[in-house]
Amino acid sequence: MARQNAVVTGYGFYAPPRVVTNHDLGKMGVDTSDEWIVSRTGIKERRFAADGETTSTMSTRAARVALERARMRPADLDLVIVGTCSPDYLFPATACLVQKELGAERAGAFDIEAACTSFVSALAVANGMILAGTHRNALVIGAECLSRLLNFKDRTTCVLFGDGAGAIVLEASNASVGVESAILHSDGSKGELLWVEAGASRVPATAETVAAGKHFIRMEGGETFKLAVKSMADAAEEALIQANVTADEIDLMIPHQANVRIIQKVAERLRFPMDKVFVNIQRYGNTSAASIPIALAEAAESGRLKKGDRVLLAAFGGGFTWGASVMEWWGVPIPDRREKTIVERAARTAEDLLDKVLPGA
Ligand code: ACO
Repeated sequence: MARQNAVVTGYGFYAPPRVVTNHDLGKMGVDTSDEWIVSRTGIKERRFAADGETTSTMSTRAARVALERARMRPADLDLVIVGTCSPDYLFPATACLVQKELGAERAGAFDIEAACTSFVSALAVANGMILAGTHRNALVIGAECLSRLLNFKDRTTCVLFGDGAGAIVLEASNASVGVESAILHSDGSKGELLWVEAGASRVPATAETVAAGKHFIRMEGGETFKLAVKSMADAAEEALIQANVTADEIDLMIPHQANVRIIQKVAERLRFPMDKVFVNIQRYGNTSAASIPIALAEAAESGRLKKGDRVLLAAFGGGFTWGASVMEWWGVPIPDRREKTIVERAARTAEDLLDKVLPGA
């Protein structure tokens, strides 16, 4: 069998309808201003999940759009992977909740947690499994419900984050180049610069931990900023080298949307013109693991990312973790698989009909 590549055959995103502007945060009692937030971060508004919406419900909505575009039935999925640091529960995995909601009855399901680098990490894992030949396809999701982890008394963090989900379907194919590189790095010694300290096994939830606000996101912004710029730029360069392409051959860069100043500095270091960089942080804030797949889907929907384009992804997040990936964008169903599915469906319909006419035959 010819070597198969992993290509994106479907994409989708879900942004909860509740828009929270910078002015709204002021009205909620946060001591801040639109001017401060826009000038320091580029964020004008973000989305917050409604009561009852969670990381898994948003993931499921994004996944349905991606599956529809890929013309793939949930029952045909081999894997469901959710990248998130705001899962519905410590366990079961959010991916299992999505697997159940979709009816992906054959799929393995697990979460990947690398904070804002979770989606790029999940993509690297799914790509590796498809290249190894053990799995034909994977639904790869990045999703967060960070509004539930925000301390609205801490203005240095609560103005930055938002909720949402993005999803892609990745499939084995010899039809295209697909994912060309996958770079991942980490530095666990910096973990306490950006973290949620309590609520798991080392610092279990108690009345004291809740009173001390240890279940909320805390961050040393300045240090994180510097490392984010350097790490994303370095990883992007490595991803270009691994893919054996130059920056000029990239049609669009999609960086993690943490801060527009970080994005600009990364582009500067890579000598990358800003008109080839996708930015939507002004509308969503930092949605952590969801930011890259939401941006991918928006770029494809708006025509900025077209079949055959080469795209560079770069992410940085808590852990610290960082990574980058180059891929040729496909974005449409695989013709050979679609035909196969149609034949399979027809066979199943014929079997169902036969069963109705001659039960037990
Ligand atoms: N509104 C008004 N004033 C504020 C606010 C606010 N929301 N927040 C902080 N300030 C004040 C501070 O108190 C400080 O005042 P002082 O000088 O009187 O003490 C002043 O503004 C400057 O604060 P800085 O922290 O120095 O502001 P900075 O320019 O560094 O911007 C920011 C802060 C936006 C957080 C920036 O450091 C940043 O973007 N960091 C990186 C974030 C990131 O990349 N995270 C990684 C991914 S996230 C993940 O993995 C989950």
